[in-house]
Amino acid sequence: MRVLMIGDVVGSGGRRAVSGLLHDLRSELNIDFVTLQGENLAGGIGLTIDTVTEMVEAGANVITTGNHVWDKRDFIDQLDNPYLPVLRPLNYPPGTPGRGATDDSGQIAVISLIGRVWVGEFDSPFAVVDDLLTGGFGQGKPIVVDFHAEATSEKAALAWHLDGRVAAVVGTHTHVPTSDCKVLPGGTGFTTDLGMVGAVDSILGVEVDGSLARFLTGYRQRMQPVRSGLINFNSVLINIDDSTGLATSVERIDRQFEV
Ligand SMILES: [Fe+2]
Ligand SMILES: [Fe+2]
Repeated sequence: MRVLMIGDVVGSGGRRAVSGLLHDLRSELNIDFVTLQGENLAGGIGLTIDTVTEMVEAGANVITTGNHVWDKRDFIDQLDNPYLPVLRPLNYPPGTPGRGATDDSGQIAVISLIGRVWVGEFDSPFAVVDDLLTGGFGQGKPIVVDFHAEATSEKAALAWHLDGRVAAVVGTHTHVPTSDCKVLPGGTGFTTDLGMVGAVDSILGVEVDGSLARFLTGYRQRMQPVRSGLINFNSVLINIDDSTGLATSVERIDRQFEV
């Protein structure tokens, strides 16, 4: 089984790069399943039905999210729509709309978690994922985890915590790809951050002027994703042994696409 996990897709530029690249990548790399970080799909913040549909048509099987999942208020009700393959982080408090894990979206089970270091107040991702796994989630299927977190140490710690119990733990949220792909001793694939699908000439996918002004003035200005130009497409390919459900290799798949 070969699973491609794509980093945070930023705005229309990111979506157009995914649409332009993913179908060919799926056949070129014999990919069976695709996860995509969608928290920045719509104008850089949040998701809409249209942007999710666009990514599903482009080849994404499950869309994970993070701290921006609530930014488009009309979409919150859609998190309970069984036909949209969108997860919000599992470790929000009980009663939060949506679901944080799925094992009925194909051959792979997917878990979305969010970190607590420099991100916000959430239930412990370590305890919450333990409860899910001991409850029998995903039995018989390889499980991949998107851990949407800021601190590199927290991401590595979760990967080691889950080593041997899931096929992969990948980090998202920083929009910066890391070069530390590896398989841990128990068979869990890991990389600290997938990166993004967003503009090369940007600050984390956002127009430089708006982002830079925050640091120069302290005044929070409107930030817009860069919509055209050269786009970085950052993702990681996990090779999974079908008999064990664990990873045999993890490698970066990075491309660029002009939109
Ligand atoms: Fe993001
Ligand atoms: Fe984020």
